[in-house]
Amino acid sequence: MKHTDFISIHDYSAKEIAQLFALASHMKRSPRRYATALKGKTLAMIFEKPSLRTRVTFETGIYQLGGQGIYLAPADINLRKRESVYDVGKNLERWCHGIMIRTFGHDICTGLADAASIPVINGLTDLEHPCQAMADFMTIREHRGKLKGLKVSFLGDGNNVANSLMQAGAKTGAHVWVASPRGYEPTIEMLETARADAAKAKLGAEIIFTNDPSEAARGADVIYTDVWASMGQESEAEARKKIFRPYQVNAALMAQAKRDALFLHCLPAHRGEEVTDEVIDSSQSVVFDEAENRLHMQKAIMWMLMK
Ligand code: CP
Ligand code: NVA
Repeated sequence: MKHTDFISIHDYSAKEIAQLFALASHMKRSPRRYATALKGKTLAMIFEKPSLRTRVTFETGIYQLGGQGIYLAPADINLRKRESVYDVGKNLERWCHGIMIRTFGHDICTGLADAASIPVINGLTDLEHPCQAMADFMTIREHRGKLKGLKVSFLGDGNNVANSLMQAGAKTGAHVWVASPRGYEPTIEMLETARADAAKAKLGAEIIFTNDPSEAARGADVIYTDVWASMGQESEAEARKKIFRPYQVNAALMAQAKRDALFLHCLPAHRGEEVTDEVIDSSQSVVFDEAENRLHMQKAIMWMLMK
């Protein structure tokens, strides 16, 4: 693969995405074979938003590959105020071998990639969360043995996680349904991009939007949800609780899906809001498998880019 960054699943072909799943699975099975794969290399990890999973999995992951992660908290760099994105990129390329960034605007992430000659990995922007969707689809594949033809339904905000799931479906042949309230849909542009990707990949994926949570849930192989107010939208949280209530994933909603449907959530979860305890703690829930797979998938991504 010739790519220098991992910013969007859209940038990778269906074949390359399949190769990443295979590599991540191999790393999961045989971690010791990669113990010195990135020996002596450093990954700068820029965080402009909080994190548990992304920080711990990238930092543990680079360590397990023989390298070192450098955690840069929001106040450390004060990106765009203390120093421009361009200057930060030009500095980091002199010392490090890769950058992971979690930020707000997607253009900050692409701007950093344009500036820096070293690989940039998207650890979440307002628009996309590609490492998450890769770990999610890896998890679904482990539990179902395939992705092609599955109905994967996301209920809630048409947000960064929904966008990346649509892109992952397009590249793997899984049908991705998104059910959101009016005004909170994924943008037409994101829907059309995923549909065009699906047509190009020729794996038969359909990307379908509906306002009706039941339509999305009916017969689904996977039910997925995420917080109703993302990081940066805290002031809208109260208003959103009422608007999103019909999209809550509870036992009644799960009963509309296949009997053995999987439940996924990127986490952190707001229990009692977008998902009830009975669902997230049920035997159908694979949320901690997803969290674990962030580690294996991101090791594969780092190795692909930084070796
Ligand atoms: N799912 C996820 O990215 O978790 P964090 O926000 O804790 O990193
Ligand atoms: N949509 C959520 C995902 C968190 C991992 C957010 O952006 O806050």
